[in-house]
Amino acid sequence: MDNRPIGLLDSGLGGLSIAKKVVEKLPNESTVFIGDNAHMPYGNRTKEDIIDLTRKSVKFLLNNDVKLVIFACNTATAAAMSTIEKEIDPQIIGVIQSGALDAARTTKNKKVAVVATSVTVDSHAYEKEIHFRDPEIEVTELATPKLAPLVEAQEDHATNLKVVKESLAPLKDKDFDTLVLGCTHYPLIEQEFKEAIDDPSVTILDPADQVAQYTFNVMRRDGLFSEENHKAVHEYYTTGNPASFDKLARTFMDDATLTSKHVDTEN
Ligand code: SIN
Repeated sequence: MDNRPIGLLDSGLGGLSIAKKVVEKLPNESTVFIGDNAHMPYGNRTKEDIIDLTRKSVKFLLNNDVKLVIFACNTATAAAMSTIEKEIDPQIIGVIQSGALDAARTTKNKKVAVVATSVTVDSHAYEKEIHFRDPEIEVTELATPKLAPLVEAQEDHATNLKVVKESLAPLKDKDFDTLVLGCTHYPLIEQEFKEAIDDPSVTILDPADQVAQYTFNVMRRDGLFSEENHKAVHEYYTTGNPASFDKLARTFMDDATLTSKHVDTEN
């Protein structure tokens, strides 16, 4: 038994899509979430820069005595996970492996599209992981760099829909039956994706459920569950503006009392 919290990091608000599913799947577990809103988007930065920023968030989580670390950010998973997992003791759980597994299991026509940041797309991490499971699956990876900043800007539905439609236009004639939301920000505007795709035969995949299941499995394997009577506490930190973080986080996490704190990871 281990009552220490689970740590989650993201470049901003997107990781809440993972936090929500982890909290639902593991209601006994405390969490510490850090969103690096001051430095988002990560998706157009250099690999070195992403490693440096992610390392600072990991250090913050370790100082909060977390028992494992979830990279609730596809860009950090693609660019920094393989480096940072060699540097720390607690296990790191990324999001790409779970998303790829889900996609390989879901597609019937063996055509999968993945939308993600430029860094994630250029790494071809999704294609590699999907092909590891089934080399016959045709994978189309599309960089949609406007979408994570769009989520952070907390625009209205009409604006979101317009930008999502424009971003997905290059997928128009691709005959995919599964679309992976390969950036944790995108599930926060899943409704706009549904309307833009407008095709019930296409499954829109949010890897978050699979990440939560994998986290559960790792914790069972390693004896990391909290005691049964443990009262879960959820802490939220942002390197950006807490008021702006709370506005979206309260609605998305369905918790009107959620209050984040500002933290400066540079020190
Ligand atoms: C970004 O900061 O560009 C998006 C993060 C992600 O890939 O989840």
